[in-house]
Amino acid sequence: MENIFIKEFEAGKRIIGYYIIKSYNLKTSSNNKKYLDLTLMDKTGEVNGKIWGIDDEAVKDYKSGMVIKVEGDVTLWNNTLQLKIIRYRPVNEEDEINIEDFVPAAPIETESMYQQVMTFKEMIQDEEIRTLVGEIYEEYRGKLLYYPAAKMHHHAIYGGLLYHVLRMLMTGEKLCEVYPVNKDLLFAGIMLHDIEKINEMDADDMGIVGEYTRDGQLLGHIIQGIVKIDHVGKAIAMEDEKIKLIQHMILSHHYEPEYGSPKKPMIPEAELLHYIDMIDARMYDMDKVLGTQAPGEFSEPVFVLDKRRLYKATF
Ligand SMILES: [Fe+2]
Ligand SMILES: [Fe+2]
Repeated sequence: MENIFIKEFEAGKRIIGYYIIKSYNLKTSSNNKKYLDLTLMDKTGEVNGKIWGIDDEAVKDYKSGMVIKVEGDVTLWNNTLQLKIIRYRPVNEEDEINIEDFVPAAPIETESMYQQVMTFKEMIQDEEIRTLVGEIYEEYRGKLLYYPAAKMHHHAIYGGLLYHVLRMLMTGEKLCEVYPVNKDLLFAGIMLHDIEKINEMDADDMGIVGEYTRDGQLLGHIIQGIVKIDHVGKAIAMEDEKIKLIQHMILSHHYEPEYGSPKKPMIPEAELLHYIDMIDARMYDMDKVLGTQAPGEFSEPVFVLDKRRLYKATF
């Protein structure tokens, strides 16, 4: 199949390729012309695309998560590449496409990540805490195997949620060698802190998030997580103090009220959880930016890293 990856786009170039519609919006321009504003993606990146002169009827044939074949011109607008789409159609059986070409995925196979996370779960000595984590992971196993950890920001990739949890567990295990905290609580907090992202966001089986769910918008994964732990904890007759401490860890993991945490950490395990979460999100974002950066140069300002420009060393 002839295909140009988004990473290879250059202004002024005519391209042909296959891309996933990540999201789309029918808009009207200032001179009253209708156009479809799309975010297209493949495993190498995302690009904004526009289809001019489309009508409401034609739009109904397209939806997010769908792969389309596109021919278009790459243009430069406000310092970012854009695609002016000339021809497009949905894929059919004759197009031999591999899903791995479209969706950026965690570097470790998801089934293996799940097993590794389960190995950490087995290290939890407290039976009630281990059962709590085990029940929830068992229930969510299917979705955990592909869910991303975010819609836009860190770990917005196939299997991203598990990858985030796994690396946090690896970091947490090391930190426990330095700081004598309760490992059971820390591991449970790590494994459950973002678990309700599964119900906060709607992701398709390629791990692409379309929208936040109703409950996700109204409550968010922190509150949803607290409700979940209450249910499962009570169902397994877990000691109340353990339920409350794990709920507190989830409640405080965003640290600041403006980021969704009404309480700051009041136990060392919760403090560590927050910083481990930050480390993993930041390192992921830095890695992603520097991955496509030329050595000896600065990146564009990175929005999710407070508009910092990152430098890639030459050695
Ligand atoms: Fe979170
Ligand atoms: Fe997180």
